[in-house]
Amino acid sequence: MGRVFVAGSINMDVVATADRHPKVGETVAGKQVLYFPGGKGANQAVAASRLGAQTTLIGRLGKDSFGAELKAFLADQGIDLGYLQETAEAHTGTAIITVAASDNTIVVIPGSNALVAADDVRVVPLLKGDVAVSQFEIPLPTIAVFFQRAREAGATTVLNPAPAQTMSRELLALVDVLVLNETELGFLAGVELSEDDSAARIIEVARRLQARADQTICVTLGKRGVLARAGSEEFAVPGRAVKAVDTTGAGDCFVGALAAQLADGVALRTALTFANAAASISVQRMGAGPSMPTAAEVAAVLNAG
Ligand code: RIB
Ligand code: NA
Repeated sequence: MGRVFVAGSINMDVVATADRHPKVGETVAGKQVLYFPGGKGANQAVAASRLGAQTTLIGRLGKDSFGAELKAFLADQGIDLGYLQETAEAHTGTAIITVAASDNTIVVIPGSNALVAADDVRVVPLLKGDVAVSQFEIPLPTIAVFFQRAREAGATTVLNPAPAQTMSRELLALVDVLVLNETELGFLAGVELSEDDSAARIIEVARRLQARADQTICVTLGKRGVLARAGSEEFAVPGRAVKAVDTTGAGDCFVGALAAQLADGVALRTALTFANAAASISVQRMGAGPSMPTAAEVAAVLNAG
């Protein structure tokens, strides 16, 4: 059984809940202020670990109270923190989030995440069968070194290019499994895509983005489920109708769950169905990190049909 290594961001999410989002220049009264462990990298690691994968998180925290709290939370999740560093040069990554009617807006201040360096990932003991996961909240040159090492070791690389930013063809070619939403897919492919676009159109754009014939591209569509193109095969996993309270971290849940399944050697279609069910649980709970489900919870959802 392979292990999961996530190189990525760790943030304290400072969440304001309100009945609606303020317009630009407007002040609205909020209901609550909540502090949740977050950051795309940490969220993905929490999901993988709760779902039973042996998980290591490579990242950087500041030497401050948010950093200490996040470290304690991550240790509680059973995540290996042997490659986690604390740095005095920056504050711990922080996300300012508003949640209204289950939708969110997020401003991320990278802080210590911007200092995750090539040397931090070069030392990671990846082996054949392991899964190396990253996202776009740490420097892209660091991700390139991490994925190069992973591929040399025979590990599978999983990239979640979120938040979207321009990436080189070279980095894209180091990715075995690309997981992104329709907006990120449109951005990377240089076309306009929205949640109303047809499955055929989305798959067509994914096919054009494929950097290698054996690359897998998974497009998460929220309520509409998941579309994937793997080599020359195509899959569609239907969405699950649930009542969402907070979608923050749902994409991260999907990525972490998929990584855990791939590390376990599960076939892609089954892995996508599992990850889709996991994400549908996470949106029914507040917060990012704390909303990740366990394997038993996902099994219960899948058994219920
Ligand atoms: O994907 C959700 C995450 O994005 C939040 O936890 C926040 O920290 C931002 O990084
Ligand atoms: Na959630």
